[in-house]
Amino acid sequence: MAGNITFTMIKPTAYKNGHAGKIIDQILGAGFTFKAMKQVHLTAEQAGQFYAVHKARPFYGELVEFMSSGPIIAAVLEKDNAVEDYRTFIGATNPAEAAEGTIRKQFATSIGENAVHGSDSDENAWIEANFFFSNFEMV
Ligand code: CMP
Repeated sequence: MAGNITFTMIKPTAYKNGHAGKIIDQILGAGFTFKAMKQVHLTAEQAGQFYAVHKARPFYGELVEFMSSGPIIAAVLEKDNAVEDYRTFIGATNPAEAAEGTIRKQFATSIGENAVHGSDSDENAWIEANFFFSNFEMV
């Protein structure tokens, strides 16, 4: 069904600081279920490919370097209205603007190191899920 999945990553700083378990627990508590999940350490080339849409942005180099700096957790989540609900749940990209109680308000340290990624559209959710997982790995 269109509109029922989103893709997320727990980014290197949140992972390194030991927040992955708490974030996963809150994701489940918010009513999302996991269709797929894995721990990976992206190469700079893979991070660059994933964020290719931001290639022209001034922060692209920094983003690629950061996202390949350590392990992350990548996951596909399922819920009605997943993309929009997950973006509300994680809060604004810039943690200074994130609402109280959101994941980024609790765990992000800066706009670049903002704890988690969340897809921005249904189309991108599938593109991003397929970047990390085969059909066989999404149940
Ligand atoms: P994410 O949701 O993963 O999608 C793109 C990422 O680019 C975003 O989260 C931020 O981590 C990063 N980003 C966006 N704007 C900036 C910025 N001004 N400076 C550094 N990183 C940014």
